[in-house]
Amino acid sequence: MTRINVRVDGASYQDDVEPRTLLVHYLREQLGKVGTVVGCDTSNCGACTVHLDGEAVKSCTVLAVQADGAEVTTIEGVSRGGELHPVQKAFHEMHGLQCGFCTPGMIMASIDLLADNPDPSDDEVREGIEGNLCRCTGYQNIVRAVQHAAGEMRGAPAGDGHVAPAAVDTAAAPHVVGQA
Ligand code: FES
Ligand code: FES
Repeated sequence: MTRINVRVDGASYQDDVEPRTLLVHYLREQLGKVGTVVGCDTSNCGACTVHLDGEAVKSCTVLAVQADGAEVTTIEGVSRGGELHPVQKAFHEMHGLQCGFCTPGMIMASIDLLADNPDPSDDEVREGIEGNLCRCTGYQNIVRAVQHAAGEMRGAPAGDGHVAPAAVDTAAAPHVVGQA
């Protein structure tokens, strides 16, 4: 076992993990962050996308030990004070999901895309989410949702678009060692 210290969705955790444990399995099985899903386990589908130090990564391609000392944001950490993130809201309003299985990863990839390019063309959106597969093939509405969110976010108060970590209720998670 290897001890890791990692911040996830604004809370600090210290845990012992097997060196071979994948980040996605650590998030789901040790932290209960089941909003991050596993679609393929072979780095193809992007359903497991989270942010590692602000960059979108497929968490089935990252070892938990590689997140030692890092800041991880999952789909469970992007809303604020009961308010959905603008990208979450846009997926809802523009019908950017069907079964919803790809949605957490699509949203995390889209937030990262918009942080880097707040005013993308449709082609740039498609390119930005090309690592994320939707088995329902709802790509048209996903692109519309990302464009809708981009418009909303450009009209919103200035920010870099990246998600700042949220504070969490540590009483609910016994192995939390600190919070934002
Ligand atoms: S589960 Fe990670 S890319 Fe499919
Ligand atoms: S909405 Fe079903 S996989 Fe994308």
